[in-house]
Amino acid sequence: MGRLFVGVLGVSTKRRTIIAGNWKMNKTFGEGKKLAAAIVEGVKDKKDLPEIVLCPPFTLLSEVTESTKDSAVKVGAQNMDYRDEGAYTGEVSPVMLTSMSVGYVLIGHSERRQFFGETNATVNLRLKAALRHDLVPIVCVGETLDEREDGLTDAVVRRQVAAALADIDETDLEKIVFAYEPVWAIGTGKTCEADEANRVAGLVRATVNEFYSRGESGQKNKSTVGEQIPVLYGGSVKASNVDEQLALEHIDGSLVGGASLTAQEFLPIIEAGAKRVARVPSKA
Ligand code: 13P
Repeated sequence: MGRLFVGVLGVSTKRRTIIAGNWKMNKTFGEGKKLAAAIVEGVKDKKDLPEIVLCPPFTLLSEVTESTKDSAVKVGAQNMDYRDEGAYTGEVSPVMLTSMSVGYVLIGHSERRQFFGETNATVNLRLKAALRHDLVPIVCVGETLDEREDGLTDAVVRRQVAAALADIDETDLEKIVFAYEPVWAIGTGKTCEADEANRVAGLVRATVNEFYSRGESGQKNKSTVGEQIPVLYGGSVKASNVDEQLALEHIDGSLVGGASLTAQEFLPIIEAGAKRVARVPSKA
């Protein structure tokens, strides 16, 4: 049964379903072009499609936007700078992305945090830049194995969500998407149990609500803005575990790494998204 959520304007909303593929640092020009074409072909004439987003490396953005342009498949970047232009060798700006019809951007992926110095503060800057430029930000949060073993999962996730939202107005949240990706489940084949992924995805949503519920002198003005924000799960998502995840209350889609690298593995995950759309049609 579809669940009904009450949005910030008091309008009933059902959260949309998003299936995103993060190709990471994979695919040559020719390989990427072929994969995008195979996905476009695979979803052609399909009904109840979820929002499908391919996030290829920068070198393939132009080609993938071209191959997907008359299809239901959208394109996202894996990262971006928060400044519009300037002497920042090696960086790519939000202005460059929007000028080539890229509509989405991953922000704060754990691999950016782990290997490229991304912090909660730079995540916040990038998120503001994405909102300013009308890109759909997919903000990634999640704990490491050590943090989980030390019982810090909830504290880490809450901190990452709240820090990402610093100085962002509730009314600007319409476009935002969160992804819960426990670092220990990424590329390891270890999936987070669906119930636990659902619990933490719910915590992401609750944290957004709490963040905007702060009122003066104990008079809390309760926000429900989190109820309309899609939260995806990522970490060893495959055709064999995605149905179980998407059946749960707080998981609105998937952010897929390894299994997005072949059409054979990714198309069944899109199909699982379509089943959720049929169950929970999103607001037009
Ligand atoms: P895997 O699906 O390969 O675990 O990667 C998940 C991920 O990091 C997607 O952003």
